[in-house]
Amino acid sequence: MEESEKRQTLRRHKSTSWLSQSLSFQLLCTSIILQDDKTLICIFGFKSLICHSRKGRPVTISYAFTNSLHIIRFKFTRIQTCRQQLMVQANPSSMRPQASPADTVVVITGVSGGLGRALALELAQRGYTVVGCGRNEAKLLELEKILNGGTKHLLKKVDVTSDNSVKEFAETVMETKGAPDIVINFAGIINRNGKIWELSAAEFDAVLDVNVKGVANTMRHFLPLMAKQGLFVNITSGWGRIGAADVAPYCASKWAIEGLTQAVAKEVPQGVAVVALNPGVINTDMLVSCFGPQAALYQSPDTWAPIAADAILNLTAADNGSSLNV
Ligand SMILES: NC(=O)c1ccc[n+]([C@@H]2O[C@H](COP(=O)([O-])OP(=O)(O)OC[C@H]3O[C@@H](n4cnc5c(N)ncnc54)[C@H](OP(=O)(O)O)[C@@H]3O)[C@@H](O)[C@H]2O)c1
Repeated sequence: MEESEKRQTLRRHKSTSWLSQSLSFQLLCTSIILQDDKTLICIFGFKSLICHSRKGRPVTISYAFTNSLHIIRFKFTRIQTCRQQLMVQANPSSMRPQASPADTVVVITGVSGGLGRALALELAQRGYTVVGCGRNEAKLLELEKILNGGTKHLLKKVDVTSDNSVKEFAETVMETKGAPDIVINFAGIINRNGKIWELSAAEFDAVLDVNVKGVANTMRHFLPLMAKQGLFVNITSGWGRIGAADVAPYCASKWAIEGLTQAVAKEVPQGVAVVALNPGVINTDMLVSCFGPQAALYQSPDTWAPIAADAILNLTAADNGSSLNV
């Protein structure tokens, strides 16, 4: 934050009672950024803020107002715990009927690597039925060996940019597993680092084809299967809410996901939730592509997966249209 920004310290805000209450971020938070191991920055739109911390945990809140955003900086002694609480307590009551994990079918696009693969393994370990797709057959086979031992899970080679392939995939899922309960769109690519004038039209198209049209294809064929209830998660990015140099095509694609999600959320029947979820920053092949060796400084997909699983499984129909963060 700039020194010139209007800043107001809200230490010991109003009463001490808020310190004894639990975290509650049931508000429209546009971005949560982990600045360092003790500082969490939350960026909110013009919405009301409810903010509490646990008793005994020292907290400093600084509040700043920039052009169009309220920026709240929280300092916690144990940031990890706070992040977990933030997700777990975001929705205390589930509106979805509590199906057993074994009866819950989770479709994951981009299951062959990175975050999709890590989450698939986590959910399978918890007993959920995982149906996944990706393009790399060798990686799918390798994952299938780890997952299966039976026919509970299903992995298919599908390129999400092909509307027809996604249609066939949806039909196969419906025939073999029934209507999915949760669909998570991880399939995505990033452009090689470069200014917009250094990237070809084909490179720009490739990112939009996978990250935007691929998600649209998945929505087109899977949402009609979720007639009465279901959760549809479109994986977005911090770069879907702010811009960054050298990744303009990727930013454009993720901003599109935010808009696409909000629009479709207005079209789905009651009981279905379509949300945009920013996974955070995780050391995957994609991160290495843009951060280089610095990517190793970030959390691994294996560390991230249990936290993300809790966050996703805790979402409800009340979250429809939200832009959320892990
Ligand atoms: N890692 C991060 O820090 C981070 C931060 C913000 C957002 N995200 C988002 O999280 C998602 C997963 O990213 P990641 O970091 O796990 O990336 P990753 O390691 O590169 O994995 C991407 C996955 O997408 C699949 N994929 C790519 N194109 C596909 C296509 N046309 N059809 C089907 N599958 C396709 C890949 O499998 P195949 O190669 O087999 O097709 C792979 O399984 C992406 O949407 C990304 O934008 C990641």
